Amino acid sequence: MRTIEKILVNKNKSCKPIWFMRQAGRHLPEFRKIRSKNKNFIKLCLNAKLSAKITLQPVNRYNLDAAIIFSDILMIPYALGQDVKFKKKEGPVLNNFDEKKFFKYKKKDFLKELTPTYKCINIVRKKLNKNKTLISFVGAPWTLIIYMMGLKKNKKQLSQPKTIQIKMIKRVINKLTDYICLHIEKQKKAGADIVQVFDSWAGLLPSKLLNDFCYKPNLRIVKFCKKNKIPVICFPKGIKKKYLNFNQFVRPNGLNLDSDVDPKWAKKNLKNVTLQGGINPLILLKSERKIYKEAKKYLDIFKNVPYIFNLGHGLVPSTDPNKLKKLVEFVRHY
Ligand code: CP3
Repeated sequence: MRTIEKILVNKNKSCKPIWFMRQAGRHLPEFRKIRSKNKNFIKLCLNAKLSAKITLQPVNRYNLDAAIIFSDILMIPYALGQDVKFKKKEGPVLNNFDEKKFFKYKKKDFLKELTPTYKCINIVRKKLNKNKTLISFVGAPWTLIIYMMGLKKNKKQLSQPKTIQIKMIKRVINKLTDYICLHIEKQKKAGADIVQVFDSWAGLLPSKLLNDFCYKPNLRIVKFCKKNKIPVICFPKGIKKKYLNFNQFVRPNGLNLDSDVDPKWAKKNLKNVTLQGGINPLILLKSERKIYKEAKKYLDIFKNVPYIFNLGHGLVPSTDPNKLKKLVEFVRHY
């Protein structure tokens, strides 16, 4: 078993493996070079060879313990027939959600669209050192729905959702979870070792909807993973002290902390789980002294518990690769 799986399944306490969210991407000059020649981001994600190459770039540069496949959570809505565009300052933009079309969609068409992702995983697994973990990922239903239904634009609507809309979202969550599980299964079969579930917008949910829109769908995914022996890390970003309820209800193998979670509180309250991340990615824009001080804080707090070194959110594009390299060395020698 590879280090990260060992720590997730056997709760090995001694070693602290290290990888970074968004390690494959815009902070790397070698990525930007490829990206500048490939203007269509979705097409780039569907280019198995290039995606495999990008996946391995940070692992080669920093000697990390894991590769995370170069893709995007929005490949699922894309594979379900929705138009997805990445606009320069706006981020991702999807065309209007069509419920009828969504429910009529065929599994085999979904899988056909995503075949290049599975091919990419195939290639990476062959090239990746045997001790290193290959991480696949999915967006949690609620976070995908935020994009699919363009809900971020309308925060007021989110705090007071109408009953009809709640019913519709519940139906969509159910069906979407089937597709998410299918994508996890196929990624595993293609050679991925573990899966991370990003619920990046869980923090937008009012308390009364957390159960139906976040905990329950995450639980269904975790149960599916456990049944299929796929170690799973959940990331319900932004839910503050509700991390405790989430962990007790969903019981994932791993839990990624965001930067708002106090690490001491996490150590005391989040039990029977491997913790991951937490460090604010913006600290990497500061001096080396400050970076090491923050890293030391997390390493000291999590000294005697299973912990995977990572961040509380993805690396920002302006991160200096040399500083990141030094941070990896600092953690390795600590
Ligand atoms: O290195 C890795 O972590 C693997 C690749 C990866 C990408 N997206 C590539 C990407 C992963 C794991 C994701 C997950 C993802 N995508 C999430 C969940 C994590 C989080 O950030 O909360 C979300 C919400 C998305 C949706 C998404 N994709 C957004 C909001 C954006 C635009 C803004 C941004 O943060 O970059 C993307 C585009 C995207 N996904 C890029 C990359 C490398 C940048 C594309 C570019 O080159 O312009």
